[in-house]
Amino acid sequence: MAVARQERLTLEVVARRQLARDIVEFTLAPPDGGALEPFAPGAHITVETPSGAMRRYSLVNDGAAPGTYVIAIKREAASRGGSASMHDQATVGTRLAVEPPANDFPLVEAPGHLLIAGGIGITPILSMARWLHARGRRFGLIYLTRSPEEAAYLDECRTFPGAIIHHDGGRPERFYDFWPHFETPRPEHVYCCGPRPLMEEIKAVSGHWPEGRIHFEDFAPVEVVRPDDRPFTLVLARSGRELQVPADLSILETLRAAGLKPLSSCESGTCGTCRTRLLAGEADHRDLFLREEDRRDNIMICVSRARSEKLVVDL
Ligand code: FES
Repeated sequence: MAVARQERLTLEVVARRQLARDIVEFTLAPPDGGALEPFAPGAHITVETPSGAMRRYSLVNDGAAPGTYVIAIKREAASRGGSASMHDQATVGTRLAVEPPANDFPLVEAPGHLLIAGGIGITPILSMARWLHARGRRFGLIYLTRSPEEAAYLDECRTFPGAIIHHDGGRPERFYDFWPHFETPRPEHVYCCGPRPLMEEIKAVSGHWPEGRIHFEDFAPVEVVRPDDRPFTLVLARSGRELQVPADLSILETLRAAGLKPLSSCESGTCGTCRTRLLAGEADHRDLFLREEDRRDNIMICVSRARSEKLVVDL
């Protein structure tokens, strides 16, 4: 969901491989064999799937001088067409329109890294693990899935020193306990990609860590607006302008509709780009970015809304 629309490439599926029960890996290359834009671990491409739906997928191959882009896609049970159409219709020879790589989840230099993946969230995490491993860097990997049959790249993940692989069978009593990893803050940076409940758990256990150490990537379509959401008034303090945020639009979308150009990137409450000072009113925080102590005076306008009738923001 990048702000600016990028120029699209046409890429061809040159290989596909079943990785796990519902997960297929696709290798994409330019039909003329030309070069592709390099990328760093954590990057994704946006693909126009055969259904017409645009979907973001993490790149898992080495991005230094890529001849191909490799992605892995899980068929989502509740798919609105994107993942199902890739599984059913994208065969070798299929051509797809693709936006070039972007990266909302870049690895930062740090004394150590802890990588946490849940399910198909392994894709950006694997590219980071490969990159760190190839350079002899210290990192930890925790990979959680329901079962081995549903886990992509399992054999490779087992080869990383100290990797923790945990299958919980979907049973609450077997959920992984993260607290021992987070009890004492360490100088490492943590990267987490997976289902929303996993990311919320990591946010909860890391609340006492210094700001900026925990990074999230969220690919699931985010419910920015919920069925019981209500309209409210947004006051832009710098101009005194008042906008009505309707029940079915986010603050970000409302600002755009009013002709403003607020900064945004992930639009799922994880990257921090749209952080805005909250001057008055009570926010309904729905992001994974702000720490508890910052929530009184800040709001992530891509996902969060109001509990009060009115919010006043520093815009
Ligand atoms: S745009 Fe990323 S947190 Fe709002």
